[in-house]
Amino acid sequence: MKQARVMDKNSKIYVAGHRGLVGSAIVRRLKVEGYDNLLLRTSSELDLRDGPSVKAFFESERPDYVFLAAAKVGGIWANSHYPADFIYDNLAIEINIIHNAYLSSVKKLLFLGSSCIYPKFAPQPMKEEHLLSGTLEPTNEPYAVAKIAGIKMCESYNRQYGANFISVMPTNLYGPNDNFDLENSHVLPALIRKFHEAGVNGSPSVIVWGTGNPRREFLHVDDLADACVFLMQNYNDSELINIGTGEDQTIKELALLIKEVVGFEGKVEFDTSKPDGMARKLLDVSKINSLGWQAKIDLRQGIEMTYRWYCENYA
Ligand SMILES: NC(=O)c1ccc[n+]([C@@H]2O[C@H](COP(=O)([O-])OP(=O)(O)OC[C@H]3O[C@@H](n4cnc5c(N)ncnc54)[C@H](OP(=O)(O)O)[C@@H]3O)[C@@H](O)[C@H]2O)c1
Repeated sequence: MKQARVMDKNSKIYVAGHRGLVGSAIVRRLKVEGYDNLLLRTSSELDLRDGPSVKAFFESERPDYVFLAAAKVGGIWANSHYPADFIYDNLAIEINIIHNAYLSSVKKLLFLGSSCIYPKFAPQPMKEEHLLSGTLEPTNEPYAVAKIAGIKMCESYNRQYGANFISVMPTNLYGPNDNFDLENSHVLPALIRKFHEAGVNGSPSVIVWGTGNPRREFLHVDDLADACVFLMQNYNDSELINIGTGEDQTIKELALLIKEVVGFEGKVEFDTSKPDGMARKLLDVSKINSLGWQAKIDLRQGIEMTYRWYCENYA
């Protein structure tokens, strides 16, 4: 039997990966809503790849609810240089947490998937049913296979043991605690840093990779955290659920918006010798919208908030 009970303010809630982009936003959101009984461990306090330590942690702490936001995450460069780490770390984290959540009778677990694990040529906008309907993007295949395994573990534990483990598929995220390292970051934080540094150094222009024509969707991580808490309270189904804004823009539009927010006065140039990637990547968010949830932070406002955070904490 599924336990469709909801978190209450005294529930013991474990947020795995609480210092990351997603985990830190979930912690902020839970605290704002008055959930104070949070269980948090850094990777040096508890290496989630270490089975015996994770088992001992669940046995002694016995959390009621788990947000699984710990993962090995990175861009194309990191994925192509460390494929073994991406598949091993993510499988180990998922196996240890999901199995021990079952063994210690966790009431509900939320697992973070990612829109980048949909097939490379999935129809746009991508629907939940498109998972595993085609070939994966080769550059992050080991990561995607590990993440798909996590989703299938949740489904299987629900089916065999009546667990209540849900999986969500967020679109591209951005916000405080994002990775601004140029070698390893996603396009939005990389552009914030490039425009900021070009302004500081007095550079005449910023070069953006590709034609600027591909269309992408971006969700502020505070909206994602809001959706995760909403789904933890209101969604009890094994089927995946997409989380996004349902709107996309071209990379050129994104670059010009960031230029404006940062206040860079030079030129924007596009290096068309660099690859564009897929023409469009957008999630179909009709399922989560039909449950009564919608993104609230518009892109300009979200970039302004993120740029402020970058200036105060990173630059
Ligand atoms: N970023 C995006 O655009 C995006 C989009 C869609 C989905 N997601 C999903 O959201 C989840 C979180 O991503 P994120 O962007 O928040 O990643 P992140 O900022 O890199 O944070 C990952 C967290 O995982 C923890 N972690 C990694 N390896 C660990 C280990 N061996 N033991 C214990 N903790 C470990 C780290 O803990 P420490 O800080 O303590 O080392 C870190 O805080 C991932 O599943 C990802 O697929 C992200």
